[in-house]
Amino acid sequence: MKDQQASTARPQIELDKVPAHVAIIMDGNGRWAKQRGLPRVAGHHSGMKNVKKITMAANEIGVKVLTMYAFSTENWKRPKEEVEFLMKLPQEFFPLEIEELIENNVRIRMTGWKDGLPDYTLNAIEGAIERTKNNTGLILNFALNYGGRKEMIAGVQDMIRDVQSGKLQTEELDETRFSSYMLTSDLPDPDLLIRTSGELRLSNFLLWQLAYSELWFTEAYWPEFTESLFLQAIAEYQRRGRRYGGL
Ligand code: FPP
Repeated sequence: MKDQQASTARPQIELDKVPAHVAIIMDGNGRWAKQRGLPRVAGHHSGMKNVKKITMAANEIGVKVLTMYAFSTENWKRPKEEVEFLMKLPQEFFPLEIEELIENNVRIRMTGWKDGLPDYTLNAIEGAIERTKNNTGLILNFALNYGGRKEMIAGVQDMIRDVQSGKLQTEELDETRFSSYMLTSDLPDPDLLIRTSGELRLSNFLLWQLAYSELWFTEAYWPEFTESLFLQAIAEYQRRGRRYGGL
């Protein structure tokens, strides 16, 4: 982390080696706000504003899928007011940004459980999914009400049901088949995971899918995560040798 350059530097990117799928844990909103004497939710609001900027940066260099961890299955444990604020962000974000996202051919989708989300959250995200469904550019995938362990347990339950009904033979189960039971079955696994705010953990994010992803961390809080830092992560990814356990 100490070799990260000043946040305005624009590193060189090799456009033929851009990661197809980048996943981001947008952490540090609360600490960013606290540092400024603001309520935590001000940090979430500022973080929301950063989503489009980084989406555009990813789109510009040819990233195909950008998965943003917006709300985990564990985040329900936060104070009611904070949960409510987070749940209201989609209905602010999409009316504000959807036109520009459409102009840039971005397609919205969601990974997570719709059950439990308030109607206004669901309507906002489903409206955006519907309006962008024919777009062919970057997929902006919001992980919302998502948890990796829950996803795997639900997947295993589906597999058992398929074995019981004769649709799947136990011997047929391999990694490809297992992936097909995940919520992201139609997406490539992330090539690169970025986490902001200096925390070095996965927090139940895409546990199956991140098995061979490159991990990149920055001290910067999410609201202050810049396009330049994003490109530094990409450049660092391009310098790494991915061996997938081989030599
Ligand atoms: C973690 O920071 C961040 C979240 C739980 C919320 C992330 C959501 C956004 C940035 C907005 C998403 C936008 C849309 C449109 C859904 P934290 O609160 O844990 O920060 P802390 O660790 O400093 O307390």
